[in-house]
Amino acid sequence: MSEVVTPVDPYAGYEALRNHAPVTQLEAGGPWQVSRHADVHQVLKDHQTYSSDVSIRPPDERGEPSMLFSDPPVHHRLRKLVSTAFKPAHIERQSDAIRARAERLIDDLPHEQSVDLVSALAAPLPVMVIAEMLGVEDGDLFTFKQWSDAIFSNIGEILFGTPSAQAERAAVEMDRYFLEQIKGLRERPQGHLLGRLVATETEDGRLKDEELLSFCRLLLIAGNETTTGLITASARIFHEFPQTLDLIRSNTALIPTFIEEALRYYSPFSATVRRTSKEVTLAGVVIPEGDLVIPLIASANRDSRVFDQPEIFQIDRNPNPHLALGFGIHFCLGAHLARLEGKIVVECLAAQFGAITLADPNQTEVGGLGGPKTMDVILRPR
Ligand code: HEM
Repeated sequence: MSEVVTPVDPYAGYEALRNHAPVTQLEAGGPWQVSRHADVHQVLKDHQTYSSDVSIRPPDERGEPSMLFSDPPVHHRLRKLVSTAFKPAHIERQSDAIRARAERLIDDLPHEQSVDLVSALAAPLPVMVIAEMLGVEDGDLFTFKQWSDAIFSNIGEILFGTPSAQAERAAVEMDRYFLEQIKGLRERPQGHLLGRLVATETEDGRLKDEELLSFCRLLLIAGNETTTGLITASARIFHEFPQTLDLIRSNTALIPTFIEEALRYYSPFSATVRRTSKEVTLAGVVIPEGDLVIPLIASANRDSRVFDQPEIFQIDRNPNPHLALGFGIHFCLGAHLARLEGKIVVECLAAQFGAITLADPNQTEVGGLGGPKTMDVILRPR
């Protein structure tokens, strides 16, 4: 096993938190960090005490709520409207198209020389998949990706502060683009996800344009960088635990447990956020009403109170009660899609390459939200 060098490695810090300060404020008045599995699980489970309606922006500046940042009954209504489209049977239908896209990107990767896996594969693939669901034409993909990056990189400011001019501009341009699309879809219905949503009738009529826009934005935020993070996590694991690539090649039945363990080991959605709706005691610590709480998902997933030898990547770990896709009413809507994309990429990489190594293990960080912005790898064909 090669030596693991992680320059920006939050995992040692997480362990210290779990052992010495499982529920703590890193600075006075700041959010409460929750690091143990049991407590993160409790926060995600109890949506009444730990609200997802976290934004402090005035209601008139927020636009329509998205399901990720809303509580019942708004959350239930929004989730119910779109959940059919994310059911496994619907997602499986996209399998061939995703595989074709992945194979094309992987076929174009240069061998035996350094290549940035993020820009060549891990970022474009999830964008293409979401774009297809939203009916974005291939010619508009590049612009779509730029909007997505600008909005995602500003998510904190969008919720809690003043978004950058670039993020505002991206949001305005993207809204304009999708409003045009929605107008077109009202006249000429189509079978993709956005087309079906435009046509959806609810108890209170059709979904409004603003509600549809909010959903398009949510998919960008929730489904893009996270899936990119799963692909880069997998590549990093191939570097750190080279035998995993051989094991997968000789037994593709290991891929599902590989993906679950990759989600646990380098959780791409490393933390989320809640706001207390009342005073609550968690692990003996009193958290006042109205405070922000950060469940550290990546930390929970390395908790030795739940996982045997959490620092070891066990390709066939079972059971694997990780929280990488959330828990409770906000459990990842795109979980099946994320797993499918991960499975296809890992299968294609293992089929083509005998070794995947990081060009510079010091270059890429782990543990951030999503994945690293770049990841130079060297791919050696079989
Ligand atoms: C490896 C990739 C992914 C990871 C690790 C991930 C992780 C998560 C997590 C942890 C949550 C819960 C957040 C919370 O409770 O605050 C979540 C929610 C969500 N995810 Fe994912 N996700 C991934 C991919 C996707 C994809 C591909 C899509 C859609 C195209 C998607 C759509 C959503 C949506 C819509 C929600 C909000 C659900 C709700 O509020 O009810 N995710 N995801």
